[in-house]
Amino acid sequence: MATPHPVAFPDGFLWGASTAAHQVEGNNVGSDLWHAENDGSGTLRDRSGDACDSFHRWPEDLDIARDLGLNAYRFSVEWARVVPAPGHPSAAMLDHYRRVIEGCAERGLTPVVTLHHFTNPAWLRAEGGWTSGEALTHFTEYVRAVLPILDGVRWVCTINEPNMVAMMVARRRHAADGEVPAFVVPDPGVTAALTRAHEAARELLASVPGLRSGWTVANQNVQDHGAGPDRTAEMSYLIDDQYIDVAKGDDFLGVQAYSRMRAGERGLIVPGPDDRRTMMGWEYYPRALEDTVRHTAARLGGSTPLLVTENGIATGDDDERIAYTGEAVLGLAHALADGIDVRGYLHWSLLDNYEWGSWEPTFGLVSVDRTTFRRTVKPSARWYARLVRDPEATLRQGAAS
Ligand code: BGC
Repeated sequence: MATPHPVAFPDGFLWGASTAAHQVEGNNVGSDLWHAENDGSGTLRDRSGDACDSFHRWPEDLDIARDLGLNAYRFSVEWARVVPAPGHPSAAMLDHYRRVIEGCAERGLTPVVTLHHFTNPAWLRAEGGWTSGEALTHFTEYVRAVLPILDGVRWVCTINEPNMVAMMVARRRHAADGEVPAFVVPDPGVTAALTRAHEAARELLASVPGLRSGWTVANQNVQDHGAGPDRTAEMSYLIDDQYIDVAKGDDFLGVQAYSRMRAGERGLIVPGPDDRRTMMGWEYYPRALEDTVRHTAARLGGSTPLLVTENGIATGDDDERIAYTGEAVLGLAHALADGIDVRGYLHWSLLDNYEWGSWEPTFGLVSVDRTTFRRTVKPSARWYARLVRDPEATLRQGAAS
């Protein structure tokens, strides 16, 4: 690793870790995914079940984040819990999430709160999901219910990875038609509905003093490997850029980067046995973060600050996690040195958690025993703690080894 640029992160830079409700809380029984996990169809390999029991053990999770010296923690509020039945928000659940927000403040952690991280209430799915006539009204009612507990919160992600949400709907439709296209175009109807929901949420959130809101994009990082610049740009527009464009003028945009997509002459080049791959089957590509931060900043033309809301690797080899993250953060430092406005880095993920249908891929800095729920801080977490304390020395050490 060469380090030609200075490695410096501005004062107030957020260093944290991310989680999402369905992946860590456990027994999210009112959500659409819980139903899919338990409907007997076997389409999903594993059930989320008790997950990491973070619904009860969140104070322990926050203690770990604090003890590692982090100053930020990203988590999501679960719509299905807050609004278990349409029109009837739960005061007790709102209270629960308020306690988590206050728990962050008590530990010196800046909460980064996501309002929608993939799961919907099962009742919304029954009504037809995001493209049903009432979805926008339901979502704004949910956001309105959450507003009072956001007092003092500075960072709110409205919708996590709208491009993935719209892509998953398109993928389900293709599957129902017996098709498995290599390149899935996100569903335009869902994209339009999510864009309206994001904008409506931002309008409501603007009433909370000091609160910054934005959505997060799953940056696919499409690169030209023979497809030619026009086709590459078209693919990038369909799966990334149209969602980045929505963020022009927002308070921030969340960047979420893991790997890249290679656009070849005959379609996507799927990572094969010759490529180094992660437990997700994705190409091992730590430069993803720098690439996407640069691409996103250029696309936004400086109109919107960035926050890295996810970056990490599914691996069973903790040294590989350290190597990947070190290289990714070094690339981020290079982008910052070139003047790109990035406000923080939140690693995915604090915990080994439920990876949307499977317990196999491990993204966590901390492992969790699935029966006792005992948390064990991994060496990568201790390394991350050192990085947060002294990024320059830690990254240069990594570069030298
Ligand atoms: C999602 C996370 C997920 C991670 C790794 C992102 O798409 O926001 O929920 O666990 O990537 O797949």
